[in-house]
Amino acid sequence: MCGIVGYIGNRQASSILLDGLRRLEYRGYDSAGVALCGAGGLQTVKKAGRIANLGAAVELAKPEGTVGISHTRWATHGAATDENAHPHADQGGKLVVVHNGVIENYQPLRDQLIAKGHSFHSQTDTEVLSHLIGAYFDESTEKDGTQRLVDAVKLALASVKGTYGIAVMHASLPDVIVGARLGSPLIIGLGKGEHFLASDVAAVVSHTRDVVYLNDYDIVTITRDGYDVQSHQGVPAQVKISRVEFSADDAEMGEFPHFMLKEIFEQPNSLRNAMRGRLSRDECTAVMGGLNMTPKELVQIDRIILAGCGTAYHAAMVGEYLIESLARVPTEVEIASEFRYRNVPANKNTLQFVLSQSGETIDTLAAMREGQRKGIHCLGIVNTVGSTIARESDGGVYIHAGPEIGVAATKTFTSQVTIMTLLSLLLGRIHHLSSVDGLEMIDELEALPDKIVTILKQAEKIKAIAEKHCNAEGMLFMGRQANYPVALEGALKMKEISYIYASGHPSAELKHGVIALVKPDLPSVFIAPDDAVFDKNVSNIEEVLARKGPVIAVTTEGRTELERLTEDVIYVPDCPSYLTPILNVIPLQLLSYYTAVARGCDVDKPRNLAKSVTVE
Ligand code: AGP
Repeated sequence: MCGIVGYIGNRQASSILLDGLRRLEYRGYDSAGVALCGAGGLQTVKKAGRIANLGAAVELAKPEGTVGISHTRWATHGAATDENAHPHADQGGKLVVVHNGVIENYQPLRDQLIAKGHSFHSQTDTEVLSHLIGAYFDESTEKDGTQRLVDAVKLALASVKGTYGIAVMHASLPDVIVGARLGSPLIIGLGKGEHFLASDVAAVVSHTRDVVYLNDYDIVTITRDGYDVQSHQGVPAQVKISRVEFSADDAEMGEFPHFMLKEIFEQPNSLRNAMRGRLSRDECTAVMGGLNMTPKELVQIDRIILAGCGTAYHAAMVGEYLIESLARVPTEVEIASEFRYRNVPANKNTLQFVLSQSGETIDTLAAMREGQRKGIHCLGIVNTVGSTIARESDGGVYIHAGPEIGVAATKTFTSQVTIMTLLSLLLGRIHHLSSVDGLEMIDELEALPDKIVTILKQAEKIKAIAEKHCNAEGMLFMGRQANYPVALEGALKMKEISYIYASGHPSAELKHGVIALVKPDLPSVFIAPDDAVFDKNVSNIEEVLARKGPVIAVTTEGRTELERLTEDVIYVPDCPSYLTPILNVIPLQLLSYYTAVARGCDVDKPRNLAKSVTVE
């Protein structure tokens, strides 16, 4: 969602801010802006649309200064217009604010300010915040300018309800930027003679890999030579400097035309990274020290709750199949946004996992906090190191997939499912899997990356299938057992980036309603591996074909009989049925990618979507 970049140093800020905003583009946005503080005072440039529009406007306006704040906005309150783009100024035009999050009580605050003579120039909730901070700043008699700004920020934040990550700058204070967070991520990037504020390390990693992840209720000041973090009460906060694991190059597209394709092709490696150091051949089990739980504690667990949103929810659904079938521990999956408003019963032997690529999804974070409130041991399965879920959970597992920039999650899905498989192995070995079973699982897991390479080699064939069906009116995705969530994931990918309406179903549900949709311009994608329900899937394929619905089939190498039914058959290497979701999803990722490209869609930045959903 919205992105923040702030810079204070000795270099001209505008190109640094624009570069940072470009690196945050993947989060999703529909307008952008910068404000610089230089010899001529404050200069603000804002534009609806892409960063390129803002870049062109900055080129014309040539704002100067070595301190500045900037923003990419994903519209919540008010349309994506130049006026609604951030930064927003206060009544006097001397103070500017960029803001991620939502100020829920902005309307009454706005009414009060209007009654006092303030006039507003946008429909945003954020402008209320800039007016409030500005008013407190103007009223203050404090002599120290920085302290005056910090106090004004604190007073304003005390009167708002909602979530925020903010950066604030004042024309009379060109040597400081003030930031604060509650519910929206914010980090400090530490340089030499320069410092950064950003909502995401991706914005600063080309300048520094040393960062401080801020916590909720932290108030930060950055200057050229230092930084200070304190609580609203003025108590110095505990600060830990972390080293970012990836470099700026890892977040570049390289030879690929899109991040999504790059990330699909990274899967052999991302899977290896997810498993590295976590498979013990000696003990024939998985090793996950980050869970912070002993076998004695794990054996007591009689119920597991898995929660996530979107793709992470689908990975959790696969996890439910795996944990129940391999470890026999009752497991339930919850959509995180629903879980937080339910009153789920828990006992002392309940264990909760939240799955999240970003580690910042607000609903998933809230689901975790709700679990913790109930006394449940809550663990995170997260990609982004240092993210809020990673820091607030009681332990967990990093999936180590590396930066995922494409809005459509790909490699993080297969890595999350891999971690779910490792968890099933660990719990299975504690309960009833023998050492021989465990070793067999390890062999099969280690064979996966090479099998993925085989699938990726079929990219051209999948591209041809995608081009053939790219004008479809809609698409159905069908699968059974652990491949039902894969069908949901295939449909989500198709919707997100190609804008073709798609839905995923358990194959057997076809006859209970969905079959009414079948017609010649609505292909059905069947995930039909060589497993116990292969014949059932074939019967469902026949039912679709009998009604002139085209079929694309994903099946196991060797099941060539499907070629009698359809010419669009994609083969994946053989593997045990519990691993088929990891392999079967890859052709579906490629199918949606090539369909979107054939339709001329902006694959990495699909309309209306944000990579990290930090508002409810
Ligand atoms: C997946 O392609 C989507 N971009 C989206 O559903 C995503 O998986 C969801 O928003 C959850 O994000 P998270 O993994 O960062 O929590």
